[in-house]
Amino acid sequence: MDCSISNEDLVCAIDEEKYNFFCNTLDFGMEHTIDLKIFENKETYNQIIQVCANIFKEDIQRITHFTNDPYCGIAAIDIPEGSIFNKKVNSVYGAAVAMGIFGNIGNPNIDSINKMPFSIYSASHENAKLLNSKDLVQYPPEVKLGFHNDGLFQGKQIHIPKNIMVYNMYINYRKPGNFKWAPLAAWEEAEKYERLLNEKLVKIRITPNFYFDKEGNINNTFVDTVEVPICRINEEGEASFFLNGNVLAQDNGLELADIVNSMRDSISENPNNILIAQKERRAFYLKNDFGFHARDIFEEPIEDADLTRVFIRAVDINAKSYYSY
Ligand SMILES: [Fe+2]
Repeated sequence: MDCSISNEDLVCAIDEEKYNFFCNTLDFGMEHTIDLKIFENKETYNQIIQVCANIFKEDIQRITHFTNDPYCGIAAIDIPEGSIFNKKVNSVYGAAVAMGIFGNIGNPNIDSINKMPFSIYSASHENAKLLNSKDLVQYPPEVKLGFHNDGLFQGKQIHIPKNIMVYNMYINYRKPGNFKWAPLAAWEEAEKYERLLNEKLVKIRITPNFYFDKEGNINNTFVDTVEVPICRINEEGEASFFLNGNVLAQDNGLELADIVNSMRDSISENPNNILIAQKERRAFYLKNDFGFHARDIFEEPIEDADLTRVFIRAVDINAKSYYSY
């Protein structure tokens, strides 16, 4: 496929009639009963996946057509709001569409904290202040998040999930910028960095995921630091990458840190990268082992609310085994 495809062509919009039909078919009820907690029940989620398979068959085919292409690897959908529902009901049914479609593409890992098939990321001015006051570095919407791929940590094993889904439930910025995708197959300098980094152990400070527990304590649900290769080439000559977190000169020496930094620059400057605008109720589907993703800084927060952004992220347990450390 021609990778010069216009980026908005990778987004398909679900029509409102189909969405209303989906909500009525599930019929979870209105505002007093419906909640994201419906996803704690495996049977309910399976039902959502089945209903999605029937109602959104063409949308699922369109998404996988793009994500299975190594020169593309990403697609997005816009989920409408049904005018017969209020905001809260719409937000749960929106997540049901995004996750129902994901369940037809991958098999989501159950989040260890919320016991649901996705993690919830909720950023607010209040949380940001709290983390800053404790000198904890995190990645709120207003901080740049550079190109990386997502890993799945199980014990001391890193796996690279095949599919990922990120769904913007709520964005309280006037300029949310773009979601960015760099397809590995279209990265011109890939071979150079594969040669430089193959099997070379690198100390990586993993991008943290801070979580506030019921007592208000802050925990990081990810490991802090790992020492693993950023690139591995298998016997067939195929390269796999685990690019995440910070690689600092103080941990790795200047030379190695410089190579990783220039690799990140090379990925982000590649003319074949794909940009898709961030939008509320837009879900992004990525083939995580086909490339790297990043996002712009979110700019111009709308002042009236403390909450700045809420998104859910699902990762596939169908994953490439990458490395044991
Ligand atoms: Fe990510």
